[in-house]
Parts: sequence; C-alpha cells; structure tokens
Amino acid sequence: MVMRGSLLNNHRRTVQRLRQMIGPLKIKLLLCFCISFTAILLLARSSFFVHDSDSDSDSDSDSSSKGYAILINTWKRYHLLKQSISHYATCPRLHSIHVVWSEPHPPSHSLHTSLHNLVSRAELRFHINHEDSLNNRFKEIKDLGVDAVFSVDDDVIFPCSSLNLAFDVWQAAPNTMVGFVPRRVSVDHSQSQGTKGYYIYNGWWSVWWTGTYSMVLSKAAFFHKKYLRIYTNEMPASIRHFITKNRNCEDIAMSFLVANVSGAPPIWVKGKIYEIGSTGISSLGGHTERRTECVNRFVAEFGGMPLVSTSVKAIDSRGVWFW
Ligand SMILES: *[C@@H]1O[C@H](CO)[C@@H](O)[C@H](O)[C@H]1NC(C)=O
Repeated sequence: MVMRGSLLNNHRRTVQRLRQMIGPLKIKLLLCFCISFTAILLLARSSFFVHDSDSDSDSDSDSSSKGYAILINTWKRYHLLKQSISHYATCPRLHSIHVVWSEPHPPSHSLHTSLHNLVSRAELRFHINHEDSLNNRFKEIKDLGVDAVFSVDDDVIFPCSSLNLAFDVWQAAPNTMVGFVPRRVSVDHSQSQGTKGYYIYNGWWSVWWTGTYSMVLSKAAFFHKKYLRIYTNEMPASIRHFITKNRNCEDIAMSFLVANVSGAPPIWVKGKIYEIGSTGISSLGGHTERRTECVNRFVAEFGGMPLVSTSVKAIDSRGVWFW
C-alpha cells in the first residue's frame, strides 16, 4: 500500500510537473507561431511596398531579360521631358532612354546637359529628325542592346512597379504589344450591308462598358524592337504618308502591324497612370471620327482586319486581397 501510495504520488507529481512544463511551453509555442506568422506577413507586405527592390530582377541571364529601352516622343515641352526622364531614370530594369526629337532646332546645350545629369546609371540618347512626322517615333534604332521597347508619350508617367509588371508580361509574350491604354474597334452593323465591313474606333468608355479591346496605344506600351524596323521599312509607304499628312493614327498603324505579324491580341496591364501634361489631341472634337477613318483606311491597306479582340487583363496579384 505504501509502495503503491508513493507510486501514485510519484505519478501525480510527474503529471503535475509535466502540466506545469507544458502550460508555458504551449503558450511559448503559440507565441512563437504568432510572431513568426506576423513576421512572414510583414515581410510579404514590405516586399509589396518596396516593390522596386532588386529581387525583381535577379536570375536574369539572357538578352531579352536584360532590361528595356524607353522611347519617349516629345515636342517642345522640356519641363515634361525633364520630369519623365528624372522619374524613369530611377527604374531598376531600365537599360536606356531614347528621346525622339523632331523639332526644327536640335536640343540646346543646357537641356542636353541637364537631362544627362538626371540619368546616371542608364544610357540617354537623342534621335534627331529633320522632318516633322509622327512616323519618327517608330524609326529603327540600330544597336539598341535590348529587345524590349517601352514607347511612351512625354505627358504621362508610370511608376516603376507598373513598368516592371508590364515588362514581365511582355517577356512572356514578346511578339505582341503589352500596354496600359486599351482601345476597342467594333463593327458598325448599321453600315455593314456592303461588301466590306465598316469599323468604328471607340474610346475608353467602350472598353470600360464591354470589357473587351483590340489595341493598346503606343503612348504607353511595350513591344519588340523588330517592329520599329518593320514599321519603317516593310509597312506600305502609303500608310506612312497618310500618317505624316494627317498628323494622326501612327499608334493605330503600329497596332495593325503587330497584330498582322503576331496574329495575337494585345495585352492590357493594370498600372497607375499619372498625367502630367495638359490634355492632348484626344480631347479635341472630331477625334474619334478621324480615328475611325484611319481604321477603315488601314483595313483596306492591310487587305482585312488584323486586330484580334480580347478581354484579358494582367494584374499584380500582390495587390489583390481576395481571389
Ligand atoms: C500582313 O501579313 C502578311 C502575312 O505575313 C504579309 O504578307 C503582309 O505583307 C502583311 N501586311 C502588311 C500591310 O504589312
């Protein structure tokens, strides 16, 4: 009995001791778990906030992932050009900046120097044109160094994180255009009883309403550098003449050209857009009528409608909370 009693006591004591140990241990474990979970969450979020860290660009080896060249079209708005260049110079995957210059006078020495001072890490080049034509923005650039071209107007700015996302998407589909400003071309059923379909160029609201688009505008789009060569040397000259004369629609022609070569739709990427200039020609009256005229003219020149419709939109999944 005594033996048993002491055994029982021993047992009880062991259990009690164990309980005493496990109690705090459990809490400690729980605490550990909570702390590490919070830490993981914080790390994940901080990589979201510090979105331009070098972690995005590691393990890049082949030439197509070396970075992208920015092609800025500008016209006598030096303060916008400075603002754009000083911003893009901070983007981690930038390879070079190319300024398409079509003014009668070359850039002044002071502008030249101040712009070069803004860009330390990447290359900055001016491409001086003597003729003033919208086709200048798509002239072939020899020894570009990278395949990816980001074509952009001087009055819109995109954060480096948006460029990163679009560049990633473009690398997965380098034959098509990847951009931030979608537009839709639709068939006008009221007038299509003739032999040829009659197309209408639609503005942003049509994309918003239908969720479909068939172009992304070259005012903010990635494309392969080969399309500069094709636009300048292989596209019918009549299209380029029409664009020079009408001072419009070079972006529509580029979309037709890329679609004709790739047979694929463009890709719309969600990005933040900061408009830094005053509103351009797109706000003037009669704009969509003139664009509609271009679309139908190019359909005739291409011998058909090459544009492909889609409703795909690429987004950064880190910015999405619910699936
Ligand atoms: C469109 O693509 C076809 C087939 O590749 C080609 O023969 C034609 O020249 C292209 N059209 C234009 C206008 O570039």
